[in-house]
Amino acid sequence: TPAPLTLTLSGAAGQIGYSLLFRVASGEVFGPDQPVRIRMLEAPGAVRAAEGVAMELQDAAAPLVADVDISDQPRRAFDGADLAILVGARPRTAGMERADLLEVNAGIFGPQGEAINSVANEGIRVLVIGNPANTNTMIVAAHAPDVPRNRFSALTRLDHNRALAQLAARSGAPVGEISRVTIWGNHSRTQYPDVRHALIQGRPALEVVDREWAEGEFIDTVAQRGGAIIAARGGSSVASTATAIIDHVHRRLHGVREGDWSSAGRISDGSYGVPEGLVCSYPVISRDQEWEIVQGLEVDAFSRARIDASVAELIEEREAVRHLGLI
Ligand code: NAI
Repeated sequence: TPAPLTLTLSGAAGQIGYSLLFRVASGEVFGPDQPVRIRMLEAPGAVRAAEGVAMELQDAAAPLVADVDISDQPRRAFDGADLAILVGARPRTAGMERADLLEVNAGIFGPQGEAINSVANEGIRVLVIGNPANTNTMIVAAHAPDVPRNRFSALTRLDHNRALAQLAARSGAPVGEISRVTIWGNHSRTQYPDVRHALIQGRPALEVVDREWAEGEFIDTVAQRGGAIIAARGGSSVASTATAIIDHVHRRLHGVREGDWSSAGRISDGSYGVPEGLVCSYPVISRDQEWEIVQGLEVDAFSRARIDASVAELIEEREAVRHLGLI
């Protein structure tokens, strides 16, 4: 058996943590032969709850779980981390302004970035789920300057999966025979789920589904799916988010299918006209376990306007936290 990998999971006592941890334990994330050391990072008030989760994890008697540690101290939690999955965030509460939300979360993700910079393993990868995920990723990366920029991602695979599912439902094609869907922009209602390069059973998606739907209802359905789940279930997306985290990590480690790509929020290098430094969702493939932005896709006027609108929101978010001096 290989030496254990170290996974640091923030927000481990939360809903997504509760769903994800047992799938890590069963080998779905790193594979059936890869032991894992789990470090849970929680807010002080949730350490007790994290202990309860750890008790259940112990009761799963999972041979792959080498060790579990719980802490509210980022420096302890990220010590020796190979992968950091950052789920813990302050949710928006009634009456809270968007700017306040951004500020409170900047206060969480800045110190975590500092800790990652000083104590994580050299090969550290950081995947941010906690919202606002794109801007939180930018902040964590700004505080970990020694970590290569391409090691940071914001999760948009859930949006990608939602787009695949809607296309499958509309076309009647199996979800596995749909490829090259892209989520561009922010993980928010302004995101742009793009089918212009997508293939459904080898045919251009726009020859299979009607354009009016693809440019209207489809985009709204994907972008507002989180709200629809809350309305129906009485709680936000949890199990599907854990699935998307697994899909993201799995594809980074093992690559995407030949001819296909995934979507992930990446620190922009200026690709597709997105200002450098913003964290924007792009089409990505994985090479040698590193994400790369797919280059050279044609962006027509419709796509350009949609991407620009979401990027405008990312710029606003960056401006809202700039005065904190964290970026
Ligand atoms: P939750 O409220 O059940 O869990 C969040 C956990 O984070 C709590 O246990 C809380 O104690 C912890 N936490 C708060 N501050 C912390 C800190 N400073 N350090 C460590 N842990 C801290 O929420 P849930 O459902 O697990 O969702 C977590 C986040 O994921 C939310 O921000 C949500 O908006 C986001 N999300 C993102 C998605 C995406 O696709 N990017 C999809 C679904 C959720």
